[in-house]
Amino acid sequence: MNTTPASAVAIYPGSFDPITNGHLDLIERGARLFDRLIVAILRHDAKQSLFSVAERMEMLSEVVGAFPNVSVDCFDGLLVDYAARQNATAILRGIRAISDYEYELQMALMNRRLQPRIETIFLMAGEAYSFISSRLVKELFSLGGNISGLVPPPVEIRLRQKSEI
Ligand code: PNS
Repeated sequence: MNTTPASAVAIYPGSFDPITNGHLDLIERGARLFDRLIVAILRHDAKQSLFSVAERMEMLSEVVGAFPNVSVDCFDGLLVDYAARQNATAILRGIRAISDYEYELQMALMNRRLQPRIETIFLMAGEAYSFISSRLVKELFSLGGNISGLVPPPVEIRLRQKSEI
């Protein structure tokens, strides 16, 4: 009998356009729960993005460098198919407020229907981050508001660089 426990791999999927301190909080906590955590950017998002996938991968890689069991990747197509290819047993998602719940429930149930062996694990957003979203950060920045403390420093730098172009 094989007594070696299988290593637990989880996927943390999203648009990450850009990564916020709320995402980072989830990554830090997810990295403690799983042996390996893959932060996976959806490549073909219907949403108009500010940063290219390559730029988002660069920012994420810089920011997660401190966590040895966290890697960054991107994917196309169904999330559960990608998760299965990575031998992941879990999908990690954050919930900020009750307004997130309905969409997340629908997605988790659809994903479970497609791949019953892959569980969606929800973590409540840290209270300091529950109001942060990538969309609000972009809006705030574009209107000249102060975004420090909302995004990791490399993202702040990139946003400034983009506004100078
Ligand atoms: O950060 P977001 O934009 O809320 O992330 C949404 C994401 C990327 C997790 C979701 O859109 C997704 O998984 N897309 C891939 C296609 C898919 O598998 N959809 C769910 C089942 S129909």
